Amino acid sequence: MRRLMVAGNWKMNGTRASVAELLKGLKSQEFSATVEVAIFPTFLHVNEAVEALQGTSVKVGAQNLATQSGPGALTGEVSASQLTDAGCTLVLIGHSERRQLLGEAESVLVEKFKAAQEAGLVPVLCVGETLAEREADQTFDVVGAQLDSIMDSLGVEVFSRAVIAYEPVWAIGTGLTATPEQAQDVHHAIRARLAARNAEVAQGVRLLYGGSVKAANAAELFRMPDIDGGLIGGASLNADEFGAICRAAGN
Ligand code: 13P
Repeated sequence: MRRLMVAGNWKMNGTRASVAELLKGLKSQEFSATVEVAIFPTFLHVNEAVEALQGTSVKVGAQNLATQSGPGALTGEVSASQLTDAGCTLVLIGHSERRQLLGEAESVLVEKFKAAQEAGLVPVLCVGETLAEREADQTFDVVGAQLDSIMDSLGVEVFSRAVIAYEPVWAIGTGLTATPEQAQDVHHAIRARLAARNAEVAQGVRLLYGGSVKAANAAELFRMPDIDGGLIGGASLNADEFGAICRAAGN
């Protein structure tokens, strides 16, 4: 049985005051023990989050990391070992905003994935197609290639210590959610892609759905057999809404 996971990607949001408020709200939520809950604040707010959530089961992750896991001369970057030292246990890799707006190439994502695991962080690899790619019937090819790029370089076994988030780019921040059936189809294809190399790894890996998930649509998505939880953007900035999404996963 895969344990469901609900994670909040706070993106470039929050001030010290609003983050304190959000963390306070999170601490007052009832989370089911059957669901793993995590948040991804900005680097600036990781410390505050780790401290505030001490003694709770909520995990803290980072939204990005450097391509090398240890210290070095890399101005402006944060390494995987610094993240574990700060109390992070997870890290996002390959979010579409970084792939598309910041031009992160597959080769860079492979290095980041490797650096994360070297330091003991669990990578959450984000994959997904654009609207043009979906309309051109290329969804499975695009997502498949994003997975292959990691598997070809690092081996399928790395996914026994990682999470995959399917986030169709057209559903991110648009209010347009993939239907449960659309999401399930892609999740099923992702699992099959991994199973072609290692069935056991494919069965064990958690596949989160992301893209305009809110309390009102979470339950129907999480009910699908290959959807093991969600990666939540906008709705994770509201503690009660995020709490409700986590409870939807627990039911
Ligand atoms: P929204 O939930 O705001 O659509 O964002 C999804 C996302 O990008 C999470 O990483």
